[in-house]
Amino acid sequence: MQIVQFDSEIAWAHSIADRWCERLRATPSLRMCLPAGHTPVPVYAEMVNAVKSGLVSFAHAEVFTLDEFGQLAPDDAGRCTQQLRRSLIDHIDLPPDRFHFLRTEAADLAEECRQYDLAIGRGFDLTLLGIGLNGHLGMNEPGTPVESTTHRAELHASTVAASRRYLSHTHAPTWGVTVGMKHLLESKEVWLLAGGPNKAEIVRRTFQGAITPAVPSSMLRQHPNCILFVDAGAGAGL
Ligand code: PGA
Repeated sequence: MQIVQFDSEIAWAHSIADRWCERLRATPSLRMCLPAGHTPVPVYAEMVNAVKSGLVSFAHAEVFTLDEFGQLAPDDAGRCTQQLRRSLIDHIDLPPDRFHFLRTEAADLAEECRQYDLAIGRGFDLTLLGIGLNGHLGMNEPGTPVESTTHRAELHASTVAASRRYLSHTHAPTWGVTVGMKHLLESKEVWLLAGGPNKAEIVRRTFQGAITPAVPSSMLRQHPNCILFVDAGAGAGL
């Protein structure tokens, strides 16, 4: 795992977006797995500007939402897909049929997961990830087997509490569906994003603690092509 550290959030977001534009220009059909959450929002804003300025295009790319909450209506603003639409998808030139997302309201969730795995197929070229305070990646909570594919996950109490930040009501979901560790670890390239001092301790454990499924983010140290992008706050413990 390579670490790239920046003094400011602006420099952090700008650098990640620059590299992302490079990847898209080199491979217009780039297959990406992208997270919701607060962390990537400034990066997505930069990418929206790049598309609007004609510097890059998603016209031939493919995007998979990393995860999705259960127990929220499909149009709930807190759904991961809705967050991702608002911050990125609605403002870029990605064709609608190249945006994949998880329907956690599906009657047959196992079949929904199976279809998502089929769509993922040969896997991702680039995966962007935030880090949960307990080291979760997507909704792969501590202890998730490394061979897991898309699956339903019960959320840890800290994840349920953290999800309240995305909601305009008090009905925080207790489960979700997530792309599994297998596809994250098999992605050709993984960029782990962390910003702000509240991520400093989990960033330190990710990079310096034991490599163990008990801290899913630490498993990325075994990935051959993973970059951890931190700002000054998140990198303070390194
Ligand atoms: P955040 O969430 O980007 O909103 O901090 C990260 C996560 O819990 O995976």
